[in-house]
Amino acid sequence: QTGLITLDLGYKNTGATISEITYLDGDQGELFYRGYPIEQIAEKSNFTEVMYLLLHGELPTTDQFNTFNGNIKKYNFVAEEMKKIIDAFPRSAHPMGVLSTLTSALTAFNPKAVNVQSKEEMDLAAELLIAKFAHLAAWTYRKTLGLPLNHGDNNLNYVENFYKMAFRLPNEDFEINPVVTQALDKLLILHADHEQNCSTSTVRMVGSAHTGLFASVSAGISALWGPLHGGANQAVIEMLELIEKDGGDVNKWVAKAKDKNDSFRLMGFGHRVYKNFDPRAKIIKKAADDLLAALGIEDKALDIAMQLEKVALEDEYFIERKLYPNVDFYSGIIYRALGIPTEMFTVMFALGRLPGWIAQWKEMRLKGDPIGRPRQIYQGAQLRDYVDISKR
Ligand code: SDX
Repeated sequence: QTGLITLDLGYKNTGATISEITYLDGDQGELFYRGYPIEQIAEKSNFTEVMYLLLHGELPTTDQFNTFNGNIKKYNFVAEEMKKIIDAFPRSAHPMGVLSTLTSALTAFNPKAVNVQSKEEMDLAAELLIAKFAHLAAWTYRKTLGLPLNHGDNNLNYVENFYKMAFRLPNEDFEINPVVTQALDKLLILHADHEQNCSTSTVRMVGSAHTGLFASVSAGISALWGPLHGGANQAVIEMLELIEKDGGDVNKWVAKAKDKNDSFRLMGFGHRVYKNFDPRAKIIKKAADDLLAALGIEDKALDIAMQLEKVALEDEYFIERKLYPNVDFYSGIIYRALGIPTEMFTVMFALGRLPGWIAQWKEMRLKGDPIGRPRQIYQGAQLRDYVDISKR
């Protein structure tokens, strides 16, 4: 309150840029990638094709797809020295901190991706990062278990390749289960872009100083790590496990979430833009049901999540504030069913969001957006003279 106007500070409604990539309607609960509704994309496309769509603006022809896919396979390895960097971390390091470090370190081994100016140079940097990021994401998990760090297998598609690098055990043959990799493919599609969210705005802000793509994405990874943003998918499962351990009384925890004197929030609920159901949450919830049925898994956390959703959606507090389940509410259920550990959930979000970050960085650079430099309302000390320490 400045006595003049009530300011909604903190980038809550800032029109930061003009973009042609993703359209969101928070009231209608609509999400379009380059004009295609997320429901159709999730049903009919695949993650590699969605990466092309976000980066180039159109669904690829067969030739365009094969060239794009072929380039990614061409770069499907990482410099051996990168292993020395990951070796320096303790096994207990959070995978998101390792991922952000490794992504920035990639710059040192890919000088062509640093001072890019032309669209062609940006597309090369994008394909390099897309190929190598799958390794880094897989390696952050391997690190926690002290498992050998593998390179890619070009006989597999992008998602299968990631899954094998992450989960292949050195002493066993590795079978790709299509039920698992198709569910993972759909999840990555649903996370691929989401307009000017916190981490994407971070990538744009850092990139607006003409910082290289890898370092800009590294900053986005750090923003996504936060529990109010991508870190919420890990926080949701931890919340559901806490409620289960506490006896499963969802009414008690919904009451805590409403209590202003209690810092507890219902993780996976609420959204800055969606004041209706997050369309991704609906798709993920159905995918979770289908996957658990296909794998014959009973997950108590899913039962608690559905009870929690029912109670909250009928509660005045949540209805008044238009708080609905968001993308993070059910995604952890699927990751868990896929054998992905909780501390890796936000890395999976980052793997999905990578093409969106790159597409938005590329658009910002090609459009020539100026360096980001917002202003402020100053409410500090007024003009005054320096006082020597002997007189203070
Ligand atoms: C993602 O932006 C994106 O697109 C993000 C994302 C993407 O794809 O990139 O969609 C991914 O980050 C999804 C959001 C994941 N985060 C969570 O699930 C964390 C829990 N949610 C909240 O922390 C919160 O809803 C936010 C951060 C998501 C949104 O916060 P806002 O828009 O700043 O809302 P607010 O904090 O101003 O809350 C408005 C009111 C407040 O109550 P009053 O002051 O009006 O009394 O709603 C309440 C809040 O206390 N509220 C909640 C709540 N979320 C908001 N109360 C209980 N539980 C919650 N989860």
